[in-house]
Amino acid sequence: MTAAARQRLFFALWPDGDTQSALAGLAKARLPCGGGRLVAARNLHLTMAFLGAVDAGTRRCAERAAESLRVPAFELEFRRLGYWPRPRVLWSAPERTPAGLTMLESMLRDALSACGHTPETRPFQAHITLARKVRGTVSETAHAPVRWPVSSFHLVASQTLSEGARYQPLVSWPLE
Ligand code: 2AM
Repeated sequence: MTAAARQRLFFALWPDGDTQSALAGLAKARLPCGGGRLVAARNLHLTMAFLGAVDAGTRRCAERAAESLRVPAFELEFRRLGYWPRPRVLWSAPERTPAGLTMLESMLRDALSACGHTPETRPFQAHITLARKVRGTVSETAHAPVRWPVSSFHLVASQTLSEGARYQPLVSWPLE
């Protein structure tokens, strides 16, 4: 299969417009003065599993895996702002990871391993990347809560274009 026939895919939670705007506003206000590349509001998301460039068969397998999951809906309350120096990202994270998200991420990980996907070995840290290539550090701090009732999850395609990343949600599944 040619590289062109592969798609770069990941599973994510995709915020509604209000949640994206609130997080984008926070990112703008808290970006250190050294600067960085803010993630566009429409691109803000929470990644659960990154598949990388996969062929059509793997995509079908991943879709069947997602289809089989039954997980209750949950709410996320973003309250923590932090910075990871190695990837140089500014992020926001929920105060606590609700049981529904823990369940969804771990069931997805198990189901995807049957499709030949090698799961991430680092523990899952629920977060939304707000800015990349950040210059200057940010101490972890609380921010005004941003509440997001999550009722679905998505398979998303990622393309790298000259103007930046383009993300396209391809298929969505409801939570119960
Ligand atoms: P991040 O937000 O923590 O950077 C699409 O690229 C999404 O997949 C991003 O949200 C990114 O998470 C996540 N991701 C996880 N592993 C990745 C990898 N090896 N390469 C690119 N993106 C990855």
